[in-house]
Amino acid sequence: MRPVLFFLLTFPLAAQQPDGARGAAIYSSQCAICHGRQGEGGRGPSLARARLRHAPSDESLMRLIRAGLPGGGMPGTWLNDFELRDVAAHVRSLGRFPRPPVAGDAARGETVYLKAGCAKCHTLRGEGGAFGPDLTGIGSRRNAGHLRASVLDPAADVPAGFVLIHADKITGARVNEDTFSVQIRDASGKLHSFWKSALTSLRKEPGKTAMPSYRGTLQGEDLDNLIAYLASQEDLP
Ligand code: HEC
Ligand code: HEC
Repeated sequence: MRPVLFFLLTFPLAAQQPDGARGAAIYSSQCAICHGRQGEGGRGPSLARARLRHAPSDESLMRLIRAGLPGGGMPGTWLNDFELRDVAAHVRSLGRFPRPPVAGDAARGETVYLKAGCAKCHTLRGEGGAFGPDLTGIGSRRNAGHLRASVLDPAADVPAGFVLIHADKITGARVNEDTFSVQIRDASGKLHSFWKSALTSLRKEPGKTAMPSYRGTLQGEDLDNLIAYLASQEDLP
């Protein structure tokens, strides 16, 4: 361990009060872009809630901010322990704001979800296809505005970890890849496994979507209800 880090870790943090202004400044420069200015959420989940799924205690909150959630789209930071403590205190203070209300009727949204064929590509609570990302608990990872954008304009923000691959004539989502082989799931849910040496072409398009846009297909009340349904998907206990 580097000496400076050791010093910071052993310094009695509890002896000092968090610096609220510094926490707010770090939050607006490094976190608000994904979590919203008031923690209302966006690409990242709303932080304006009393209980955070991944951060039940202040220690776990600081650890999470330092390390991020790799794979979930949350980057780590290089903040020192004082800055971590300040920004964590700011995140806790956001819990005082109520979550923005979501228009629409979640119960009726389930019908829209099934009718529109979303389950062909997405799993929700263990049921459905596996081509797109699992939507179980999606309401606690993304806010309503982001969910609406995902449905109307999927190409705008492809979730971290999703990579579209063309291997010879097969197009699909990357499931696994190493130096020698690649596994791909096509839109029908079928898994394909290839030795790279046996392929004539292998093309990756990270950031490219394989989800159709529903702009024009879903609108008005149906769209509101669908978004309310997705936003109501909290993590399974
Ligand atoms: C590039 C976008 C992005 C940035 C920047 C970002 N986050 Fe996140 N954050 C996310 C995403 C996405 C998740 C959800 C990941 C998951 O659930 O797997 C998340 C999750 C979290 C969680 C867990 C929420 C819960 O309910 O448990 C906390 C707390 C958090 N972020 C705080 C922060 C703080 C503080 C900063 C700034 C230092 C920050 N984030 C910067 C995208 C971001
Ligand atoms: C042909 C397959 C397919 C269908 C049908 C489909 N999706 Fe998707 N969806 C995907 C793929 C692939 C992704 C990941 C790439 C992306 O976001 O563009 C995705 C991403 C998403 C995301 C973003 C998830 C995240 O973690 O941010 C949401 C939300 C979503 N879909 C909802 C829906 C809803 C609601 C429907 C039905 C109205 C639907 N999808 C229909 C394939 C599909």
